[in-house]
Amino acid sequence: MTAKIIDGKAIAERLRAQIAAEVQQRVDAGLPRPGLATVLVGDNPASQIYVRMKHKACEQVGIQSFSRTLPADASQADVEAVVDELNADPRVHGILVQLPLPPGLDEERVLGRIRLEKDVDGFHPLNIGRLAQKGREPLFVPCTPAGIMVLLEEAGVNLEGARAVVLGRSNIVGMPVALLLLRRNATVTVCHSRTRDLPAVTREADVLIAAVGRAEMVRGDWVKPGAVVIDVGVNRVEDPTAKKGYRLVGDVAFDEVKEVAAAITPVPGGVGPMTIAMLLKNTLRAAKLAD
Ligand code: GUN
Repeated sequence: MTAKIIDGKAIAERLRAQIAAEVQQRVDAGLPRPGLATVLVGDNPASQIYVRMKHKACEQVGIQSFSRTLPADASQADVEAVVDELNADPRVHGILVQLPLPPGLDEERVLGRIRLEKDVDGFHPLNIGRLAQKGREPLFVPCTPAGIMVLLEEAGVNLEGARAVVLGRSNIVGMPVALLLLRRNATVTVCHSRTRDLPAVTREADVLIAAVGRAEMVRGDWVKPGAVVIDVGVNRVEDPTAKKGYRLVGDVAFDEVKEVAAAITPVPGGVGPMTIAMLLKNTLRAAKLAD
């Protein structure tokens, strides 16, 4: 069997076109243009690339974007002052503090400072707390996990009673996606570096989410025939034949797993484009909430 490829790039493009149309309708109706502010502290090269991509995506759909950058030695008070200023700015509907913050800064306090109505990343402790509780609704859901749920929906996956295995327990992906799957009545197992006999656990999965950041860790024989595999990893591996000297691979050994799974996301072009599409969607929603 060769797996169906879940084309995140195409799904994200469709979403972006819908968002662009809705933004234009708002503007035509005299409503404020949605605005997103990014806060980047320090000079982590990956973070710089991600933030640049987010600004470009905003521009493409007509969302106004604002950029605040602070040096790596910025104090807690400096960062919080920027958040306060953006909280008070009516042109800014969403605030995104790029993670990770440099060592020494209290991430939880910074994220908790963002006005709940502007928490388009969904990392405010109150939003995460609501996500973790039955019968409570977060105002915003973190973008990568939300994008994964859209991909599963688009692939026609029935999560009700399904066995879902999440590899990785990060605050940004693993934990929130596990909570979202649970809310959809999947039976969820979260695996991590101390999990015993990992391949035996992943082989139980109807839905496998790989979010550990280890190049091609999930092999063909780790996957149950017919499973749906979502690969969140973006890892650089050396490749002298590539123009840049490296290429990007996921946490899943794609060529092996595609022969076993029913459906799989590629890297690049799977989860990545969805993260940004969900950020744009959340920003548009934040603007609507402010009307
Ligand atoms: N760092 C890696 N992914 C993300 C994300 O989705 N949002 C933020 N703010 N930082 C990140």
